Amino acid sequence: MRDIKIAPSILASDFSRLGEEVRAVTEAGADWIHLDVMDGHFVPNISYGPDVIAALRAHTDIPFDCHLMIAPADPYLEAFAKAGCDMITVHAEAGPHLHRSLQAIRALGKKAGVTLNPATPVSAIEHVIDMVDLVLVMSVNPGFGGQKFIDAVVPKIAAIDALIGDRPIDLEVDGGVTAQTAPACARAGANAFVAGSAIFKGGTVDAYRANIAAIRAAATGNRP
Ligand code: DX5
Ligand code: ZN
Repeated sequence: MRDIKIAPSILASDFSRLGEEVRAVTEAGADWIHLDVMDGHFVPNISYGPDVIAALRAHTDIPFDCHLMIAPADPYLEAFAKAGCDMITVHAEAGPHLHRSLQAIRALGKKAGVTLNPATPVSAIEHVIDMVDLVLVMSVNPGFGGQKFIDAVVPKIAAIDALIGDRPIDLEVDGGVTAQTAPACARAGANAFVAGSAIFKGGTVDAYRANIAAIRAAATGNRP
C-alpha cells in the first residue's frame, strides 16, 4: 500500500516569514511541502513563482510538491525544475498537449503529476496514466485556500484509485482537507493529503505538529 503523505500548502502560511514556516512544518512532521503556483489567468489569483521556490529550497530537505495552476505550463517547467521542485503537477485542463507536458517533466528528471478540477472527468487522464508518478484530485475549485471540501469528488478518488491499480502512483487530494474530510478520501484510496488552513492554524510548531498528526491519524485509521 502507498505510504500516507501529509503535504502542507504554504499558501496558508505567513508569507512574510516563508523560510521559517517551511522549517516549522518540516520540524512538525510534514512529508512534502506543497507549492501552489497561480498565474491570475488559469485561476483567478496570483501567488508566487520559481524564484520564491528556489529561495525556500535551502530551508528543508523534504520533497517539494509543486502544483502549477498556470496556462501555458510548458514554457516554465524547466524553471520549476531548476528551482528545486521534486514533483511537478500540471492541470489536465491547462493545455491541449497534456502528454507532451508530462513527457517534458520526466525529461527534466522530475516526478510528473497530473491534476483534475472538480468538474473534469477521470477519462481525461486515462491515456496518460502510465506517464505519471502522482495524480492530484482537486476537492475545491483551484485558486484560493480555505474553501469547503466538495463531497462529490470522493467517488472520483475511488475511480482514479481503480485506474491506478497496482502502479506506483501517489493519489493526492487537495482543497478543504481536514481531519474531518480526510477519512472519506482515505477510504476512497487517497494516500497523500494537501492541507493549508487546517495545518497552518495556530501559528506555532506545536500547533502545526498537532494539526499534521490529526490529519495523519484520520487518514491512517481509514485506509481501505
Ligand atoms: C487551492 C490550492 C490548495 C490550497 C489548499 O487552489 O491548490 O493547495 O492551498 O488550501 P486549504 O487546505 O485551505 O483548502
Ligand atoms: Zn494545491
